[in-house]
Amino acid sequence: MKKKIVMFGSYVADLTGTADHLPRAGETVFGERFKIGPGGKGSNQAVAAHRAGADIVLATKLGKDVFGDLARDFYAQERIAAEYVLTDDEKGTGIALICVDEVSKQNQILVVPGACMNFTDADIETLRPAIEAADILLVQFEVNMDALEKAVDIARAAGVTIVLNPAPARKVSREFICKADVVTPNEVEAAALTGIPVENASDAQKAADIFHSWGIPKVVITLGKQGVFASAADEHRMVPARIVEAVDTTGAGDAFNGGFVTALSEGKDLFEAVEFGNALASLAVQKFGTAPSMPMRGEIDKIL
Ligand code: RIB
Ligand code: NA
Repeated sequence: MKKKIVMFGSYVADLTGTADHLPRAGETVFGERFKIGPGGKGSNQAVAAHRAGADIVLATKLGKDVFGDLARDFYAQERIAAEYVLTDDEKGTGIALICVDEVSKQNQILVVPGACMNFTDADIETLRPAIEAADILLVQFEVNMDALEKAVDIARAAGVTIVLNPAPARKVSREFICKADVVTPNEVEAAALTGIPVENASDAQKAADIFHSWGIPKVVITLGKQGVFASAADEHRMVPARIVEAVDTTGAGDAFNGGFVTALSEGKDLFEAVEFGNALASLAVQKFGTAPSMPMRGEIDKIL
């Protein structure tokens, strides 16, 4: 039996332009391509999980504007239920201004989360039954923290496993981080939370040990092209990334997290779940865009 997942997190419209280099402060750069598409870390992860076959509920918030309409159309097209896609009366739908360097494939992102920084207590009460009925709650840091804490507390009280992708890096209390059952930071986020600079597997091991000492049972640190360091009480190791030719690495972490949580919901162990997440990420970076580049289950199974 597949476990039920709830993703509580952000939707933002991605406004992506590509150029032969990223603009420096004060510089104007001519771009090549431009596209508007569905994004946001939370939504991307939920879309990745949905396409990978997970039983996932998507809980997010949109504004009353064209970008919100775009999200609703996309979810309808994907057959993702919108029961917990809320609407804010004042704030606009979040947007991200993304610049992609066509040469290095690196990106630069400015996020204005809008409605997703405005989850109210009433919104969280609306989500309560879904969270309480779930087996796994998947969350990130792209929402207002007070709402995130409430959602996590509801999950804790109901015995729901909490998978925390602490992205983007933000200052949070240790008390809050400790509530997670699994954390999945990248190198920058792991460093921000633990104070240990993370560049390689041995640094990741040190950071993971700190998370464990705080009482977090499972730690997964993504290290870009190097792969993923996964650590549980009895076993820890580096799982290498799959070598592919990247077109756009934006949302690679989201593909990983969506895949990772899907595999966990199917009863796979920590290391198998990391392999599965890596497979999604390797497929997603070979296509332009974020949510629309998430692979379908058939494509994932083919390369595993
Ligand atoms: O992780 C990538 C995502 O982060 C993009 O889709 C963008 O929306 C930003 O929020
Ligand atoms: Na992509």
